[in-house]
Amino acid sequence: MITERDRNHVLTSGYASDEVILSASHIAKSFGNVHALKAVNFDVHRGKVTTLFGENGAGKSTLMKILSGVMQPSSGEIVLDGKAVTFASTMEAQNLGISIIHQELSLAPNLSVRDNIFMGRELRASTGINYAEEERQTRLLMEELDEPIDPLTLVEDLRLGQQQIVEIARALSVNSRILIMDEPTSALSATEVEVLFRVIRDLKSRGVSIVYISHHLEEALQITDHAVVLRDGSMTAYAERKDIDLEWIVRNMVGNNFDLGSPPSGYTMGNVALSIEGIAVPDATVPGRMLVDHVSLNVHAGEIVCIYGLMGAGRTELLECVAGRLAKAHGRVVLEGEDVSRLSLARRIDKGLVLVPEDRQRDGLVQTMPVGQNLSLASIGAFTRGLLTSRRREQSVIDDAINNVHIKTDGGEAAIDSLSGGNQQKVVIGKMLATHPKVVLLDEPSRGIDVGAKAEVFKLLSEGAAQGLAVVYSTSEVGECLSIAHRIIVMGRGRIVAEFGPDATKEEIMAASGEAVVA
Ligand SMILES: Nc1ncnc2c1ncn2[C@@H]1O[C@H](COP(=O)(O)OP(=O)(O)OP(=O)(O)O)[C@@H](O)[C@H]1O
Ligand SMILES: [Mg+2]
Repeated sequence: MITERDRNHVLTSGYASDEVILSASHIAKSFGNVHALKAVNFDVHRGKVTTLFGENGAGKSTLMKILSGVMQPSSGEIVLDGKAVTFASTMEAQNLGISIIHQELSLAPNLSVRDNIFMGRELRASTGINYAEEERQTRLLMEELDEPIDPLTLVEDLRLGQQQIVEIARALSVNSRILIMDEPTSALSATEVEVLFRVIRDLKSRGVSIVYISHHLEEALQITDHAVVLRDGSMTAYAERKDIDLEWIVRNMVGNNFDLGSPPSGYTMGNVALSIEGIAVPDATVPGRMLVDHVSLNVHAGEIVCIYGLMGAGRTELLECVAGRLAKAHGRVVLEGEDVSRLSLARRIDKGLVLVPEDRQRDGLVQTMPVGQNLSLASIGAFTRGLLTSRRREQSVIDDAINNVHIKTDGGEAAIDSLSGGNQQKVVIGKMLATHPKVVLLDEPSRGIDVGAKAEVFKLLSEGAAQGLAVVYSTSEVGECLSIAHRIIVMGRGRIVAEFGPDATKEEIMAASGEAVVA
């Protein structure tokens, strides 16, 4: 029997620690007129984390899809262990030891955690599929990731962060030599990120190589050994960890340094635009437990309120309830003095109360519609008269949205899945802002968007606020609160546990949420 120690020995002995095991050279990829990658060279080192930085649409995911067999390059060469290879499918790449955790989750929502993990590589026994063994292994994997979810839970019943952990577990279960992680932490809590980083360090010590992509730059720096920056499809910088800092990354990514600014000022706030009174959402799975426990809050016209909290604090449920997405809830939602509690989600949008949801794939975008229609969908009332839609007005809504949030796309006709992950997120934000709302609720809107785009979104929200827009912004990044909020509300276990002004410190806010403050 091969013991764990034997396995470590086999994997780590006899190799120089900075040995290049995979080398991609002159990789180019075009989609019609879009040159996503232009002759990129990229190396993967044994037992190291190579982090790929770059703006939305820079080509990061495309390069990773090529290295993992999801798509083929237009030209270029991949050399693995000194031999030229081509991957016609993900299965071929997997057989050679390369697997990928996708940025956009690729799970089947209506299947269990176990079935998602073993889909396509079921464990066989003489009598058929060995479900018991699959279940046992799933349980072990979830324990290793500190997320003791029952293997038989349906994926659609998990929150987004847990789904991301299942995606990670599936990739780990393959025992790869090269593990590509495309934004693995975008929906994870700080504690979940710590667990993932522990797993990454463990994998490294066994000689596994990691390719890591993230827009959480500071976080990524903690585990980076080699940093590569992609810009407009070309590699623009490469360095080892000891030679770089945050400023180096940002400068190479976008050409200059970004300041996310401070909350907008220089105007007086208006009346209460949104009043939330005693909102309560019971937990359907645990009788007597509340996801949102009688929350009340007033937000003024022109005010930006951040709701900070850990995953599971109840932020998503609160916002969904205010927007009219969660039906079974108690309490009142009052918009500019009018009780809208009984109105549908669509009627609330018409009245000027909109939500940018957390899960863009499930709730934010219609995958079968092109970019343009997705952008105009929520504003349909504005250019529909009777049964007629004014094409010209619709087109101007689309053009404005594309320009306002700087969506990198071929145009309104492009398919949604031809956009990079961050640009899909910009579509969701642009679509809601195009309705000219009075109150906008944003649930973790910066998920997957680059520093430059984040600054643009902050600028749009600040400009909106100065014109009287009320903003409620939910985030698990303290830095974001301090850059944009007039007021910071901390939620924990469904309740408001603290409230701060814009002069609060990061430490104070994190401590109030019950989060361990890491020096
Ligand atoms: N299937 C496709 N069809 C057409 N264009 C595509 C397709 N996939 C990617 N692109 C384009 O290729 C470019 C690079 O996209 P990619 O997804 O690699 O960016 P990224 O660096 O991963 O960005 P993000 O940080 O937003 O995830 C973008 O302009 C994107 O629109
Ligand atoms: Mg991407």
